[in-house]
Amino acid sequence: MKDLLTLIKAHKDRPFFKVTHYIKIYERYFNSFRSKPINILEIGVFKGGSLQLWKAYFHEDSQIFGVDILPECKIFEEDRIKIFIGDQGNEQFLDDLIQQLPPIDIIIDDGGHTMQQQILTFEKYPALKSEAIYICEDCSSSYMVKYGGGRKKEGTFIEMMKDKIDELFRQTILTNGLKNTTFTDSTFGIHFYDSVVVIEKSPQVDPTLILKGGVLKSKDEHVKLSPKKLLELIQSSPLSLLKSINLDDQQLDKIAAIREKYHLVDLLTDTQPIAFDTTYLSFFEEAKKELTKEQLQRFEVLLNNILVNSNELFP
Ligand SMILES: C[S@@+](CC[C@H](N)C(=O)[O-])C[C@H]1O[C@@H](n2cnc3c(N)ncnc32)[C@H](O)[C@@H]1O
Repeated sequence: MKDLLTLIKAHKDRPFFKVTHYIKIYERYFNSFRSKPINILEIGVFKGGSLQLWKAYFHEDSQIFGVDILPECKIFEEDRIKIFIGDQGNEQFLDDLIQQLPPIDIIIDDGGHTMQQQILTFEKYPALKSEAIYICEDCSSSYMVKYGGGRKKEGTFIEMMKDKIDELFRQTILTNGLKNTTFTDSTFGIHFYDSVVVIEKSPQVDPTLILKGGVLKSKDEHVKLSPKKLLELIQSSPLSLLKSINLDDQQLDKIAAIREKYHLVDLLTDTQPIAFDTTYLSFFEEAKKELTKEQLQRFEVLLNNILVNSNELFP
């Protein structure tokens, strides 16, 4: 299988229009999609060369789709390359397009580059396959007045993606009532490069901790956990464990008061592992009484997940 740079160097057919450092970005995210047939959509056809490049690069049974506002781009259709004519800034056109296309693995937005076009097109992100890549190219338009951009200007594609960073962090570890969004649940990562943003779509669930080092030997051993062993586990990450069971403000206050009684460090804000001693054990036993049945159960599930993960990953 030839890499993209080799294919680009050998390309003599229709012209395309890319920037040198994009090649490294494509290789990084596209490589794992090469072994099986995929459906790729590029908005912005130009002379049809980039669609030919994707045809040469991806699996021979892949389908390549292009969109352009210019009707003359239709002539660049060929076997396995289908072109739709329309305006990416028109929501009805995008919705009709999605109805006609098979589920898409990769979308490249290299069309008109205005803020309205890029933002509207990104609204269709949920329509991608659950494991997919979304690339928005030439995002320098977010800084250019003629495309509706401006540095830190509200409403640009880049400012929208900066806000999306907040949605990547799962809200289950917070206690302020925020909720995960569909973006949180469906996105693995957002990557920013010079003028390019890549979004990796992949279903996400609550993360579990990995405890390495053989504290426990078998999957069942957690049922015999002594309070001391339990604490050894909690010690490994007290902050994330306690936060992840969604204590409300009243509970936090009560636990803070108990903590003060035992002269302990701030369990909920101190990120350092807490040294185990009998004082901490007493604190924990008392603090546990403040948890609801559900919170205690969730706490146990989290601990069990740690054990299962640890034993599976580090038998
Ligand atoms: C930068 S070129 C695309 C380059 C091409 N992807 C390549 O790599 O060779 C931008 C293309 O987007 C098309 N375009 C501009 N505005 C558009 C819009 N609103 N909807 C769809 N396509 C648009 C232009 O006609 C032009 O062909």
